[in-house]
Amino acid sequence: MLAAAAPVLSECRSALDVGAGFGALALPLARRLAHVTALEPAPALAGALRRAATRAGLANVTVIPAAWGEAAPAPHDLVVCAHVGPLLGGGADFLASVGEVARRAVLLVRDAGGGDKFFYAELYPRLLGRPYETGRRCGASDTLETLSRLGIAPVVAPIEYRSDQPFATLDEACEFWMTYMKLAGEAPRRFLRGFLAARLQRDGDAWVAPLRKRAVVIWWRR
Ligand SMILES: C[S@@+](CC[C@H](N)C(=O)[O-])C[C@H]1O[C@@H](n2cnc3c(N)ncnc32)[C@H](O)[C@@H]1O
Repeated sequence: MLAAAAPVLSECRSALDVGAGFGALALPLARRLAHVTALEPAPALAGALRRAATRAGLANVTVIPAAWGEAAPAPHDLVVCAHVGPLLGGGADFLASVGEVARRAVLLVRDAGGGDKFFYAELYPRLLGRPYETGRRCGASDTLETLSRLGIAPVVAPIEYRSDQPFATLDEACEFWMTYMKLAGEAPRRFLRGFLAARLQRDGDAWVAPLRKRAVVIWWRR
């Protein structure tokens, strides 16, 4: 994602990451830039990000535990917002106002659809009795249409990346799928155990779900 925005990244010294999660972008950005502010409203994720920054020896990360609109962050050279549906969807006013805190550039990332999320194409018919609907439109189209209405003509770069999901045990992996698919009972859990044992890859004692994703990186200069 950062490579796709390399031309503008090299012009920035600070970044505000809106909806930073546990720092998938905030931490790599902090290795490149002088300062990163991470806005993250979920307390568990804000805490995980603080701990990860400390573990990585990154003293240049400030975490603000708040949502967009709840805090008034100072302007930064770059504003980043990746995979935050409520802010990047067509109706949200984030896209209209984000430029006010971006001195040089704005960088957005949206899923481009496709790929097999968590083996759902196979698991939905087998465990829920219905096909997995991925939706007719991908999120990126909404964002790009709104930007066009706002008179913004961004650079749009399609990317592919790995979003592998690690699990300490096979039980933990089963619990993950049970929760995400809202399943209950022993029969689906038994099925998942066999299915995941065959599909996940071993990494020492751990298990890894290999997941490839497609996204678009959207950026523009102010
Ligand atoms: C799918 S995660 C993406 C995390 C990270 N940007 C990444 O790409 O890995 C979405 C994140 O946005 C945060 N979020 C949701 N609504 C938000 C809002 N209104 N303002 C700021 N962050 C928000 C969530 O708490 C969550 O951490």
